[in-house]
This record gives sequence, structure tokens and C-alpha cells, in this order.
Amino acid sequence: MKDKSKCVDCGFCSNVIRCPSPERCIGCEACYLGCPYEAVVPTEDFEARKTIKVTIDGEQYEVPEYLTVKTVLEIVGYRFTRFPEKDALFVPCGTGGCYSCAVLINGELRPSCHTRIEDGMIIKTDVTNVTPRRIIEGFTPHTVGGVGTPYYLKGIGHYIEVACFAAGCNLRCKTCQNYFVTYDSVSVPLTPREAALKLTSLRRKYRVNRMAISGGEPTINRRWLLEFFKELRKMNKDEKARFHLDTNTTILTKDYIDELIEIGITDIGPDLKALNLETFQLITGIDDKELAMKYLKTSWEAVKYIADNYYPEKIFMGIGIPYNKFFHPTMDEIYKMGLKIAEIDPEIQVCVLDYRPEFRRRDIKQPTTQEMLQVKKTLEIAGLKTVIVQTTMGHIGP
Ligand code: FES
Repeated sequence: MKDKSKCVDCGFCSNVIRCPSPERCIGCEACYLGCPYEAVVPTEDFEARKTIKVTIDGEQYEVPEYLTVKTVLEIVGYRFTRFPEKDALFVPCGTGGCYSCAVLINGELRPSCHTRIEDGMIIKTDVTNVTPRRIIEGFTPHTVGGVGTPYYLKGIGHYIEVACFAAGCNLRCKTCQNYFVTYDSVSVPLTPREAALKLTSLRRKYRVNRMAISGGEPTINRRWLLEFFKELRKMNKDEKARFHLDTNTTILTKDYIDELIEIGITDIGPDLKALNLETFQLITGIDDKELAMKYLKTSWEAVKYIADNYYPEKIFMGIGIPYNKFFHPTMDEIYKMGLKIAEIDPEIQVCVLDYRPEFRRRDIKQPTTQEMLQVKKTLEIAGLKTVIVQTTMGHIGP
């Protein structure tokens, strides 16, 4: 249900979010999670539901209609998690963009969180031999790059990188700086090869060596991402080619990092949202404390693991930190983050992003250049040697 006092008719819920069941809500929550003005109010549906027959992994079930495929799978005993686990289906975004939760429905790969159950559906949950897909958009050249782009390349006056952006994110940041991509469930999902081809042709067109993927969160569909980099490498065999991943690092476990390195990624930009759990929850909107702790721990461990095992010989790493006074009334936590990163390696590049009022948090003020310079100084005092701050006047480097 729409709260008319909050709705501004921005069109986001129809142009960016695709409703999988316009005639009757199936509770997928995509519009509830994605509406920038929080104008969607969840309501209980007490209307009677008929039962329908479906086949899941060879078993026949009678289940209620007007539900998502994911809900039906849960009803019949399948488990879904928001951190990847063995023997569970992974449902990180829940908004239809990442396809991590995808299952085969009548032979077609579709996101279970964003598809309505229908009579006669034949559903198969094992998709290991099916070509993965996910929504990828925003194929564009860039002059600045992401947090994992070396500072000496930023802002040199011409294109340095081509990038694409993956829809779907496991975080719920109210200040999401890229929410048109994050909540996109309208665009056509691409195979890894299709996305790699598009990015490669963009590289040729703009004559750059760097190719990046950002988001949303690229890592949440692991099989898709690994295939994508594999394809990209096949299409770009020259030594100058660089393969860059920007990530919130919250599910980047050691074995996942090993696989990415093995496949040949050359640059990584872990975005460390915070040090303290409360700040992490405030920034990311993850209310589940246990899940937030897991995400936070995994992200810091990932940075340490990369630094101890692969950086700088095998990979360039540039860490991102979001800053806004709203999250950090004092510099205390920023200083401690600086100390912790410096302890890992003081040479690691850190790029601080000035979080602007965006998405669901339009009430905050974009940090001033003065504030960003103060953040820079704080991190340098903590021992970091390569600090860049993003400001309204551009990037200010070491
Ligand atoms: S979890 Fe279903 S599409 Fe991302």
C-alpha cells in the first residue's frame, strides 16, 4: 500500500522496480525496500488464497497462490540465508537484481525472490549446470575510477577505466549512492559472457586498459562474477589489461578471494563501511545484529587476508571509507579505522568518500571540503601514507 503523504510520484517503483504481480501483491518487498521516499507500507493480506499444484525438485506440492517462489520454497522446507551457507539457498538482495536466489522455472532461470508462484510450475533448485545471469547496467567510461583505482591515475583529464554496475545488494544503506542500479529489477539480465563482451568493446572504443565492475554489490552472485572475470580475461589477454572489482567485502571469504586471484583480478576496492558495529548498522541498515557482525568481521578479515597474501605483488588494493558527520559526530572511529588499516599495512591506499544526501537520507548535508581535509589529516596521523579524499572540488590526494 502506498502512503500518499510520502509518495512524490517519482516513478521509481515502476521505472526501476518491476512488480512481479501487479494485480495482487505477493509480498516480495522489492518496492518496499527500494522506494526512495519510504512510501510503501507493508500490509497483511487476509484475502482467501486458492491452492495450486507445483513440482519442486521432482516432488509435487499443493501450495497457496499469490506468493513468491522463494516463500513457497520456504514453506516446503528449503532454507534461505543472507550469508552464503552450505545446504541453503542464498538470498542476499531480495529485490530481483542479483539472481543469486535464481532457480529453474519451467526451464528458465528466474529469481525466486521476485517471481510469482503459478499453477503447474516445475521448479528445480539445482542450477549448477545452468549459465548464470544477473542484471548488469551502466556500461560507461570513467575519468576517476573507483576506490580500487590507484590515486595517481585519478583525474588526469582523460578516460582511465570502463566500468559496469551489478544490480542487487545485500546491504540496505539509507544513503545508497547508486540506488538506481542497486534496486533495478527492470533491466534484462546478462550472462557473464554478454557482460564481458560489452565491457571489452567499451574498452576498445575508449582505448583504456582498466575494466571494472561495481554495484550494487558484484560479489553476491559468486558464480556469475567468477565466470565474468574468466570471460573478460579470455577476451583481454594483453599484459596491459587490468581487472578491477569494487566491493563491500561483506561476504568475501578467504576461499572466494583465492578464487578471484586465481582467475586473475588485478585491482580490488574493498569498501569498509565502519569499525564499530553500531556505525556499521547505521550506515548499512542491517538491523539483524548477528548478520551485521558477520558482514563486518568478514570485510575486515578480507582486507587483512588480501594484504597478507596478495598485496601488492599480485593485486592492487585501494580501500574505501564512507564519511559523513551524521555517521561520525567525532573523528574517533575514523582515527581507529586508520590505526587498524595502518597496522595491516600503512602503504595501502585509502579513499574517503564524502557521502552526499541520497536515496532515503536526503536530510544530511554533504561534507564540506574542510571536513574532508580533516578526515584526511586524522587518517594520516593514524599512520596511513596514501589518503585520498573525495570532495565537492574533486579528489585530493597524498
Ligand atoms: S536475492 Fe533474489 S535476486 Fe537477489
